Amino acid sequence: MRRLLVTGGAGFIGANFVRTALRDPSVAVTVLDKFTYAADPASLDGLDPARLTVVTGDVADGPLVDDLVARHDAVVHFAAESHNDNSLADPEPFIRTNIEGTFRVLEAVRRHGTRYHHISTDEVYGDLPLDDGSRFTEASPYRPSSPYSATKAGSDMLVRAWVRSFGIRATISNCSNNYGPYQHVEKFIPRQITNVIDGVAPKVYGSGTNVRDWIHVDDHNAAVWEILERGRIGETYFIGADTQRDNLTVVQILLEIMGLPKDAYEHVTDRPGHDLRYAIDATKLRAEIGWCPRYPDFHRGLENTVQWYVDNESWWRGRKAKTEARYQEIGR
Ligand code: NAD
Ligand code: DAU
Repeated sequence: MRRLLVTGGAGFIGANFVRTALRDPSVAVTVLDKFTYAADPASLDGLDPARLTVVTGDVADGPLVDDLVARHDAVVHFAAESHNDNSLADPEPFIRTNIEGTFRVLEAVRRHGTRYHHISTDEVYGDLPLDDGSRFTEASPYRPSSPYSATKAGSDMLVRAWVRSFGIRATISNCSNNYGPYQHVEKFIPRQITNVIDGVAPKVYGSGTNVRDWIHVDDHNAAVWEILERGRIGETYFIGADTQRDNLTVVQILLEIMGLPKDAYEHVTDRPGHDLRYAIDATKLRAEIGWCPRYPDFHRGLENTVQWYVDNESWWRGRKAKTEARYQEIGR
């Protein structure tokens, strides 16, 4: 049995990763998750209890992390504070989880010689102009804009230093914006879908011209799995599916799918420091690892995602009012 430790495995991408990983009968997974507001035990419902262990704990808890890492063959580190708006309201938990938490995991990996994969984001590279065709590559300079992306950049730097100075067996992936099932309703796409279900107009920050490069969460996780198996130690891989869309377009597609007029949204106050555009060049991943997206049809992916939120209201309903109350406080 191959034993994987998945930090943040009760969050959006982590839970989807655990679901994918356990399809392989030779894999057993331990989830280490603090169960912050962003986690939901129900995201792991229905999985084989003989091959899934869930530990409630903090990645910044050194002794706990050391004990768990010692008993596993590989670590996939998803755990993070992940939402930009929250990092603008209170950066402190981002420093502790994203930087100190990563430090603790790296130290345990160093002591036990464990294979490590670090999950990161395109946001560490800052943003791109709206009106040129440029894309981030693995050689782009780090230029984070928000407290969230600065802490993710810091965690990437720690991994690179631990590879070079201590020879840990690590890989890094930087992915673009994910969508799909089990995503918290604070994030753009689920927020708008659940707003429409509730008869509330979707909320577009500022002009809505900001561009994100969307990827289905299962395509992200398939790439992570391949990198874990076949990635070169010390390397960084970009994961993206060539699906740049501006926010207004995404909202209009959702409105059309949900049977409402395309202009049934409202503009709200912009996010301070709002990154203009992200775009990923995943040539290295495609050429070296042979990965390509299995869900390249964004419209179909959004239809399926809308249907998932319609069918799984019990999963998100309990978090919706609190999330919207938080947005109301910050005027968005
Ligand atoms: P999420 O907020 O849905 O989940 C984060 C999980 O980490 C939650 O289960 C939470 O309880 C857990 N967690 C938080 N602090 C913890 C701590 N101190 N100890 C243990 N667990 C803790 O986030 P997500 O969207 O699933 O993102 C997962 C990872 O992927 C993050 O590292 C994020 O930076 C990265 N990423 C996300 C995206 C995206 O579009 N969502 C894109 C690229 C990279
Ligand atoms: O690029 C990868 C990153 O994508 C990840 O590292 C982050 O963890 C993840 O949260 C996401 O960051 P964004 O800030 O791009 O995602 P968010 O869902 O918050 O917003 C997407 C875009 O939509 C962004 O331009 C802001 C805008 N937006 C967001 C919300 C919540 C709106 O216009 N209205 C909204 O209500």
